[in-house]
Amino acid sequence: MADVTRRIGLSLGADICWPICYEEIVKKLDLNIAHGGDNVRIHVDRVTIEPFDLRQPCKYDVVLDRLTHWYHVSREWIKKAILMDGLYVLNNPWSVQANEKHTSYCAMMQLGMPIPETLMLPPKSYEDLPDLKPTLKQYAKLFDLGAIGRQLGYPMFMKPYDGGGWKGVSRIDNEQKLRQAYEDSGKLVMHLQKAVDPFDCFIRCIGLGPQTTIVRYDPSAPLHDRYTMDQQKTFVNDDEAQLLRDTTLTINAFFGWDFNSCEALRKDGVWHPIDFANPCPDSQVTSLHYHFPWLVKANVRWSIYCAVTKKKFRKNLDWAPFYEIAAERNVPYRERLRAYAKIAAERFETARFEEFCHQHLKNLDEVAHEFFATPVARDAVKKKTAALFPAHEVEAFTDLFFKRIQKWRAEARA
Ligand SMILES: Nc1ncnc2c1ncn2[C@@H]1O[C@H](COP(=O)(O)OP(=O)(O)OP(=O)(O)O)[C@@H](O)[C@H]1O
Ligand SMILES: [Mg+2]
Repeated sequence: MADVTRRIGLSLGADICWPICYEEIVKKLDLNIAHGGDNVRIHVDRVTIEPFDLRQPCKYDVVLDRLTHWYHVSREWIKKAILMDGLYVLNNPWSVQANEKHTSYCAMMQLGMPIPETLMLPPKSYEDLPDLKPTLKQYAKLFDLGAIGRQLGYPMFMKPYDGGGWKGVSRIDNEQKLRQAYEDSGKLVMHLQKAVDPFDCFIRCIGLGPQTTIVRYDPSAPLHDRYTMDQQKTFVNDDEAQLLRDTTLTINAFFGWDFNSCEALRKDGVWHPIDFANPCPDSQVTSLHYHFPWLVKANVRWSIYCAVTKKKFRKNLDWAPFYEIAAERNVPYRERLRAYAKIAAERFETARFEEFCHQHLKNLDEVAHEFFATPVARDAVKKKTAALFPAHEVEAFTDLFFKRIQKWRAEARA
């Protein structure tokens, strides 16, 4: 048996807390895994930003990336490393770059998901480019915004077709507000989307590889209270939980997003996904608090599985198998969704992953449980809190987040 080391790189931005917790837990696990005739050990370090030669080798087997969606040098280094060095990365960088909210709506509508009625508007104003006038003069049709509003029906949401972070989102209740919102939208290309209203439950389902967790979400609460601590069984039954998992994993496998979250609202017993192009979602303890240990553990499991087994990265998204199932319109949607989720389970190697965790990561629960009680864990929470909160609130909020993590620990033991 040869001793080999698999290298996991953390490609980070303003992340403070989860990388510390991840590194500490992997260190404490001190893995030495018998795999394929080798003894495999894990080494974790942080990816640095520097000039690179396109032919230089990459030392990592897996990269957990937080930069692709906004820092292009890291994104391009990752692309090179996938193409030339066989890197496995969370998430597929081409898919992050190309597939915005709009594409995700279209694709999942075609798969049959009950996405609310959505339409796109040409923008109110433009950058003055040389070809603009002749193009618009010849082809832009005058349209009646009032008629569009009446056709879609109020209330509705106006939001950027490629949005994120609640930027440019407004709720619209009548024609006057619609006209004002369009006036204010400037150069942004906007969707109008029928509101799911009234809804009786709002969830975020986070997917990391084949793992998911469903959290009730309260968009009206302050940032640190939006992810509620409600027990799952109090707001969704088992069938609904399965539907939400199947939905999330279908989206994530379709787009090659190992780490993504899906927002869905329930109205009259139907779950409507409304926002699910969130590759690399919020991972901060200051928003996830009670759910933060789940995220760190899910990251540890999936990255170690991919590194040890040298999981092959899918460079192509290959949508055809999903569309073949979608074409069977006489099959009820829930059955088609199950079939999509089966493709997701193949792509995420769910059965093999679960077996791997059972064999090799048995003590992760214990190690994480102990770690999240330590001063190192508390200090990591404090560092993130200090980066976001005014100085006089740091101690109180650190206490609050750490207490919620202790609640998670107590319940994990119950
Ligand atoms: N069709 C809808 N029905 C009801 N509420 C909606 C709808 N679309 C958006 N919203 C509300 O507006 C919020 C922001 O919309 P959305 O999530 O699509 O935008 P975003 O910019 O991606 O926001 P974030 O990054 O916070 O998720 C949602 O969390 C929800 O509260
Ligand atoms: Mg959202």
